Amino acid sequence: MTDDVERPGAQEWVPDRPTLPRLRAALQECRGCELYRDATQGVMGEGDPGAELALLGEQPGDREDQAGEPFVGPAGRVLDDALADAGIAPERVYTSNVVKHFRWSGMRGKRRIHQSPKQAHVAACRPWLDAELRLVRPTGVVLLGGTAGKALYGPSFKVGACRGRRLDWPEDRPVEVPPQWVLATTHPSAVLRARGERQEAYDALVADLRVAAGLLA
Ligand code: URA
Ligand code: SF4
Repeated sequence: MTDDVERPGAQEWVPDRPTLPRLRAALQECRGCELYRDATQGVMGEGDPGAELALLGEQPGDREDQAGEPFVGPAGRVLDDALADAGIAPERVYTSNVVKHFRWSGMRGKRRIHQSPKQAHVAACRPWLDAELRLVRPTGVVLLGGTAGKALYGPSFKVGACRGRRLDWPEDRPVEVPPQWVLATTHPSAVLRARGERQEAYDALVADLRVAAGLLA
């Protein structure tokens, strides 16, 4: 499907000699796609700048958009618990999203309703993620959910088909020091949506994160 929105992509806003603080500042000027318009701010990744493990989600949610930090809302609490249960210390990870501005439409009570980003938004935003990964140089990357999976492996990627297994870094994604492995799992918000099967969904997320912990060890 096409639409008539202009999306030049983020590259021209990415600083020539980036550092993580410079990326964070420059992100606020990005006009690489239209998502900046309805968001409070761009949300750059957070965490250990030398982390061995990078966790990648989809995009900031309502709470993250206000706080300016990834995974500080309900999904973030699930993720924190799951990391702890998998034996991964939070200060050892770098956490980010494949899209840096919150995409939403309409209200549910006081909360804005999240809309998944389109592939075109993910593609427009990619220079920010590539710049972060070039600086952090993680050994391993955990993809949280289908949007992050598609961002790396393309539109046919399905989490269910390969979750919890070691994957290779995609060849068409050049970084100077590619991560040694990638592991996909479900998004923590899927645990929140799982209703009757919430415990099973949570346990499966923890099991996948344990595989990641084992690959790091
Ligand atoms: N969901 C995400 O994918 N990322 C966040 O930062 C918060 C919720
Ligand atoms: Fe730029 Fe990404 Fe925000 Fe679009 S979503 S304006 S590409 S930072």
